[in-house]
Amino acid sequence: MALLNDNYLKLKAGYLFPEIGRRVKVFCEANPEAAKRLIRCGIGDVTEALPPAVIAALHKAVDEMADRATFKGYGPEQGYDWLRAAIAQNDYRAHGLDVADDEIFVSDGSKCDCGSILDILGGKNKIAISDPVYPVYVDTNVMAGHTGEANEAGAYAKLAYLPCRPSNGFVPEPPKRHVDVIYLCSPNNPTGAVATRAQLEAWVKYALEHKAVILFDAAYEAYISDAAIPHSIYEIPGARECAIEFRSCSKNGGFTGVRCAFTVVPKTLLAQTKTGEFKPLHPLWSRRMTTKFNGVSYITQRGAEALYSPGGKAQVRALIEHYMGNAAVLRKGAKKAGLKVFGGENAPYIWVRTPKGVTSWEAFDKILGDANVVITPGSGFGSKGEGYFRISSFNSRANAEEVARRLQELKW
Ligand code: MLT
Repeated sequence: MALLNDNYLKLKAGYLFPEIGRRVKVFCEANPEAAKRLIRCGIGDVTEALPPAVIAALHKAVDEMADRATFKGYGPEQGYDWLRAAIAQNDYRAHGLDVADDEIFVSDGSKCDCGSILDILGGKNKIAISDPVYPVYVDTNVMAGHTGEANEAGAYAKLAYLPCRPSNGFVPEPPKRHVDVIYLCSPNNPTGAVATRAQLEAWVKYALEHKAVILFDAAYEAYISDAAIPHSIYEIPGARECAIEFRSCSKNGGFTGVRCAFTVVPKTLLAQTKTGEFKPLHPLWSRRMTTKFNGVSYITQRGAEALYSPGGKAQVRALIEHYMGNAAVLRKGAKKAGLKVFGGENAPYIWVRTPKGVTSWEAFDKILGDANVVITPGSGFGSKGEGYFRISSFNSRANAEEVARRLQELKW
């Protein structure tokens, strides 16, 4: 008899966004009139068209595939050299950061990489995650058997939770105890908080002292407007010795449906074998990619390369300004509605305190039922997310304005 992976049975409910989708579907079927005015500010999915520079590059790449002389079959599993070079140059070396082309691994998404990275880390690591947190970090560790069982509140026995509250600006501090692997996300999903240089320095110091690895999710770095906030963990001295960075074309280039991202694994990053030797993680990740992945399509990588052209860069900037304009509208609307608002200044997410005594899912139901707006309940991101909800600013300006207006009409 084939055995299944029992760890999957330890997962709590469904993955958050499909669960929200299911509830919204039930609501819309029962309320067809309300469904017509539904506005989705739940999942952080981009709404605006791809940058014209990307569209032109995609068309050109499609034409190349139509001609035997320029047709491409399998590409390098780690990504084409020209894209790895464009990323390393524009995202890192142009900012004075020491990242080599072959430290960039092109993939089909940061969500996938955040989960797959566990393939090259040992099974006995003590894992630290923020609470609230992007659920992928938790669930992939559950699937890999790293967490033990969850208690009634949904907290897993073997995870080290780092609470994020208004008192710490929703940025976790290094714990007093030892951990081996730390997930950090800045700008943060879901809270929209950003880690300062001093906060990241404290984390790098901790990781170096504890010989820990930081998994730094920078998928939203393009949304940082405050010049003092680091865009990359490699802005912190010592990070090349303790951190892996994940970045994505999804939220800056609008690639959620196109799929392209990358992970930086510095060759100077070592981890320990069972026998206590220190070995680089870079060849392991490269081996993992060549074995389990056949690379991102040529067409997609040409599209991603166009994000780094002068036109592409300007068009990405315009997209970010559009979404951050929405964030400002939504922040203002939620404040005027008398709600306590966080985030949304260096991130596309607005983190809102529910009115007193209202749980996250009650707020979800109320906002869906009365305002016909989909938000994300904070408790879906962890127990410390209870009492909050997240509004995504990925939308048209008209919809953002309408949501801001409807929030003010709500009677709690
Ligand atoms: C979110 O809404 O949290 C994101 O869209 C999820 C993701 O990027 O995978």
